[in-house]
Amino acid sequence: MPTATFLGHACVLIESDNHHLIIDPFLTGNPQAERTADDITADHVLLTHGHADHVGDAFAIAKRCNATVVACFELANLAAREGCTVHPMHQGGAWSFPFGRVKMTIAFHGGGYGPDDVAPIYTGPPSGLLITIGDRTIYHAGDTALFSDMKLIGDDRDIDVAFLPIGDNFTMGIDDAARAVEFLRPKHVVPIHYNTWPYIEVDPHAFAAKVNGAEVHVLGPGQSIEV
Ligand code: NI
Ligand code: MN
Repeated sequence: MPTATFLGHACVLIESDNHHLIIDPFLTGNPQAERTADDITADHVLLTHGHADHVGDAFAIAKRCNATVVACFELANLAAREGCTVHPMHQGGAWSFPFGRVKMTIAFHGGGYGPDDVAPIYTGPPSGLLITIGDRTIYHAGDTALFSDMKLIGDDRDIDVAFLPIGDNFTMGIDDAARAVEFLRPKHVVPIHYNTWPYIEVDPHAFAAKVNGAEVHVLGPGQSIEV
């Protein structure tokens, strides 16, 4: 059974018997992070989109660990230019990796990489990730608004754990995230992308109180859930 560990903001580390995947490894500069990038071992680095609070330390981790960066085509090209081994994908596509299968799903958000004082590099549309390892499926929604096609994602696979943004302002807030749970029908839900900064301060327990039909796990940075 894989273990999924919340590392703060939108970063999730998934560890199975033989593989370590890290999603959106924003650790340096992340006020919630307790782990450092140098401390991470991974064989695959999965990215939902090109914003700095998701790409984070991805390139440094991938190069140090000789890990493969899995991202949408445009963001994968950027990672390749930075010297990473990459596997490009795009929305709606799936691929069987050594650890399991990843389907890149749609998300409604932005995408761009770069410092604030220059025009950002276009990194393609944002995505969610539907990851199946053995008989377990994990959904990481990335940054997104609520969308009704989450019903299709819930139909596609029986989701064991869904990592959903709840912080509002940039993504779904707690009401929309609770509706997302109705659409996705996961067994377990972990809220992410909240309380990192003042723009996204919300009460995760208020979210938990609104959720029907799934068990909500409010994880602190470094805490894990058995998938
Ligand atoms: Ni974003
Ligand atoms: Mn974000």
